[in-house]
This record gives sequence, structure tokens and C-alpha cells, in this order.
Amino acid sequence: MSQGRRDFLRKSAAVPSTLLLLAHVGAYGQPGALSATPACTDEHEPTRQQTPGPFFLPHSPQRVSLLEPGINGTKMVLTGRVSSTQCSAVSGALLDFWHADDGGEYDVDGFRLRGHQFADSEGRYRLETIVPGLYPGRTRHIHVTVQPPNGPILTTQLYFPAEQRNARDPLFDRRLLMTIDNGGKRKAAWFDFVLALT
Ligand SMILES: [Fe+2]
Repeated sequence: MSQGRRDFLRKSAAVPSTLLLLAHVGAYGQPGALSATPACTDEHEPTRQQTPGPFFLPHSPQRVSLLEPGINGTKMVLTGRVSSTQCSAVSGALLDFWHADDGGEYDVDGFRLRGHQFADSEGRYRLETIVPGLYPGRTRHIHVTVQPPNGPILTTQLYFPAEQRNARDPLFDRRLLMTIDNGGKRKAAWFDFVLALT
């Protein structure tokens, strides 16, 4: 890791939670009419910070899909938004993802299963990848850094629900659980990042 990046990370101060925007059925259980998006309050906790671990590499390629020939595993699409604790979209936020392959190995010689992208004008991002494999000592997880334009870097990890190893991983934090939908052709995951912007 470069000295500049270390300095930047040292100055980082972001912290916990997800923002779930749930569609509700209408009153009295009638399906159909969706309720309005819940009003924003200042009670949204920032997403919790976690260690980057030993496998972060700077200068990952810019790409929204980490899929490429030779990558095996269960495909998944991770989507979500980056917003502030005051619910404003963080347009242009830099998201840098990296994770283990299907066999639990990180590519430390190249950039397989590593990539960065920028959130759109509404703070939305979309990543195509595979479900990471397990490796000793850890439950299943995806590493990510999220940085607002000219702001501090949030470094964290995202977790999968219903993983047996979640209970035995001291780093596991349920506030960093993705919402997963297994019903489609590909696994769909969802996580919204909340940044403490000053
Ligand atoms: Fe890891």
C-alpha cells in the first residue's frame, strides 16, 4: 500500500449501517399501492468501518463486471446506493471491490475479481461478480472501499446472510449483511452505503 493511501486511510473516519428502502403492500394487506419512500431523518447510522485485510491492491481496473474467462462460481449482481446520513445521494462516489475467487483465493499478482467504479448521479452502483469462496478463519465476504468525491475513504466488508460461519467469524457484523434474493436466474444482492459526510 502506498504511503499516500495509508495517510488517507488514517484520516478516514466513516462508520455503520444499511439503509433499507422496503416496498410495502397497501393498508390492510391489500397488494398493489406502494407506500411512499420513508421520509428521510437524520437517524441513519453511517456504514460501519472494517479492516481492509491483507489483500487490498491499489490501482484496480475501472469496470462494473468482474466476470471474465476462467472465473468460475455462482454469478451474482450486487446493487445499491451511496448516500449521506442526511439521505442525499453521493454522486460520483468511488467504489473499489475485491474478493476471493470460488476456491477462496485472492489474486495478489493481478486484478482478477478486483475493480472500481463510480456511482451515478443518484448514487447508484451495480457490480457483476461471483459469490466469493470461503478461506480459513473467515466467513464469506466482499471487501469494498467507498469514497465520496474529495472525501474520506470508508473501508468495510459485506456479508452474506444464512452463512454458518457468520457466527464464528469475529469480524462478522450483521449491520453489514447484504439483502440477497436467490429467486432469479442470478443471485441478486443489495446493499446501501451510508457515509458520514461533514
Ligand atoms: Fe478477505
